[in-house]
Amino acid sequence: NSHPLALSVGVTLDRYIMHRQMAFPYASGDLSQLLRDIALAGKIIHREVNRAGLIDLTGEMGVENVQGESQQKLDMIADIRFYRALRNGGEACAIISEEEEEIIHTGNDNGKYVVAIDPLDGSSNIDVNVSIGTIFSIYRRTTPVGSKATLDDFMQGGRKQVAAGYILYGSSTIMVYTTGHSVNGFTYDASLGEFILSHPDMRSPADGQIYSYNDGYLPEFPDGVQHYLSECRKRRYSARYIGSLVADFHRNLIKGGIYLYPATKKNPEGKLRLLYEAYPLAFIAERAGCLAVSQEHSILDIDPVSLHQRTPLFIGSQTMVEELVSTNSRQP
Ligand code: AHG
Ligand code: MN
Ligand code: MN
Ligand code: MN
Repeated sequence: NSHPLALSVGVTLDRYIMHRQMAFPYASGDLSQLLRDIALAGKIIHREVNRAGLIDLTGEMGVENVQGESQQKLDMIADIRFYRALRNGGEACAIISEEEEEIIHTGNDNGKYVVAIDPLDGSSNIDVNVSIGTIFSIYRRTTPVGSKATLDDFMQGGRKQVAAGYILYGSSTIMVYTTGHSVNGFTYDASLGEFILSHPDMRSPADGQIYSYNDGYLPEFPDGVQHYLSECRKRRYSARYIGSLVADFHRNLIKGGIYLYPATKKNPEGKLRLLYEAYPLAFIAERAGCLAVSQEHSILDIDPVSLHQRTPLFIGSQTMVEELVSTNSRQP
């Protein structure tokens, strides 16, 4: 890029986005604005998450979402905050969300982009001060600008994402995203109200020694997966499972490791959702030198068929995912 100094650690997200845009003289700036709108939603959700215990935002709503999960109050709040930020920002014409059964039109029919979101990831950790996150995935719409977006705009496949990212509300809040080139992380400085570049050009170690899965379901995993996990144990790797996909993924990305959520009896298609969990993290993973597969195929090559479809997910360090795939394919 043509502005190396301007993109070093310590610059704000806004400045970073502006300089990246200048490196592409024909870019209209709409995607830049959309990323800023998402960062704004992230700041608002950061605020809600941080004060949730003080103003009765914890606990269940008392209703279920389309997946049959009990919605938490913060699931709903994050969903609404995100929707408002994208509606007010004007660049996204439609949204799909884990918490909404159907496509949501923002009213910005002139917007060029559509966004798939998991507004709050890690529901089971909301009430107990454990890390949670937001995941997003952006496509350029295929329907004509000015018309109403349709489901087809979201069904382009993982390789058609133009940007993807997550915001992790952890011991600090960090936004990590890629527009298909490098992966960069911006830590939130709440005293300034700014995301600051803290993790430039994130590259994951090729191999790792952390494995992450829900051990309660182990007996239901395919034999090959069980065999691979027993190898991890024999090698005295560290077992780490937070139960928030974003947090488990982020740790493994930085330290080297593998996250596994296979198909189980309860969830024969796997639990995680393709469009707003697996695709965006797979897009980031591949840009950071990791692999993301379902059985043996890349997650990004799965054909999308429905809005809330699920997939098994194995994601993390290249060497670990390759070993898992070969172990799994050797089992009957
Ligand atoms: P969400 O909170 O968005 O519904 O996602 C929950 C997901 C994911 O965050 C996590 O890795 C996984 O569910 C944990 O599932 P188990 O409790 O079955 O291990
Ligand atoms: Mn949920
Ligand atoms: Mn989730
Ligand atoms: Mn969620």
